[in-house]
Amino acid sequence: MSLLPVWGEGGPPSQISRVSSVLHLVGNTPLFELTKVTTGLSPRVRVFTKLEGFNPGGSVKDRAALKMVAEGLRAGALTPGKTIIDSTSGNTGIALALVGAVLGYPVELVIPENVSIERKKIIAAYGAKMIYSSPLEGSDGAMRLCRQILHETPERYFKPDQYFNTANPQAHYETTGPEIWRQTQGQVTHFVAGIGTSGTIMGTGRYLKEQNPQIQIIAVEPDDAFHGLEGLKHMASSIVPGIYHEGELDRKIPVGTEEAYEAVYRLGREEGILVGQSSGAALWASLKVAREIEAGVIVTLFPDFGDKYLSTNLWVGWKDFDKKQARV
Ligand SMILES: Cc1ncc(COP(=O)(O)O)c(C=O)c1O
Repeated sequence: MSLLPVWGEGGPPSQISRVSSVLHLVGNTPLFELTKVTTGLSPRVRVFTKLEGFNPGGSVKDRAALKMVAEGLRAGALTPGKTIIDSTSGNTGIALALVGAVLGYPVELVIPENVSIERKKIIAAYGAKMIYSSPLEGSDGAMRLCRQILHETPERYFKPDQYFNTANPQAHYETTGPEIWRQTQGQVTHFVAGIGTSGTIMGTGRYLKEQNPQIQIIAVEPDDAFHGLEGLKHMASSIVPGIYHEGELDRKIPVGTEEAYEAVYRLGREEGILVGQSSGAALWASLKVAREIEAGVIVTLFPDFGDKYLSTNLWVGWKDFDKKQARV
């Protein structure tokens, strides 16, 4: 099959669709088949990924943010005059800032000070305010500082509280899960995803298990408390999210930072997809599963694209990868 899209004489087919709000563009992301990094696998194993960077805020977190705010409005917890506040490792902040901008609610975000400069600028571009927590305490430190601010003036704020809000996994139960089921025509056998808040894996996993209890739900987590996989949580050393139910998982795969980074480099060169480090972790774990089975349809999820991480450690070691490749 040609790698180039087949277009008629007049260029790409007309796909004029009208939307009246950017929020209508959340979800319905493409399911992309990985055909290069999967070389050498059994021909009866296929690996697909949801490209969540295509959401308007640039990540999977648009789904959860939209659902949590919509639920807050429905329940009367978010009313005019209130400010949306939350602690976030970055993507949820961007998503909340986007949703707040569209709906006309101010947004304040508590984030670790060492979050990448690109993320800070994106949040500022949507008009949200940032409050910095200690870079040494990671996302748990941001969570604690946010709780303290809320404790002082609770009436000012609506806190979506992504780690404890059931609307977070519900967003994936209602959108990500059905999309994967539909896009694979019910053939998915494994779903592999990283755990941050665990909203993605919990909600998507629950939906897929309801369609077919044989589908394996596999979580990906950093192999160590000190890791460089922004967006992912090492559960044993973290505050465990209230929405996380380990019993609903079939398996957890630990991934090293270096392996995840190398997977990111491969995706750029081989598939033409530039993603963030948590996507590299998802790919590494998916390929591990793929090598273990004879037949199956593995679906993973790449939470975002890579442009937000260009100034992070991810791109410090890539020249060594280059040299290693040259020696192979
Ligand atoms: C880059 C990135 N990867 C993965 C995740 C994990 O998603 P979830 O919170 O749904 O577990 C997040 C969430 O914050 C993220 O920002």
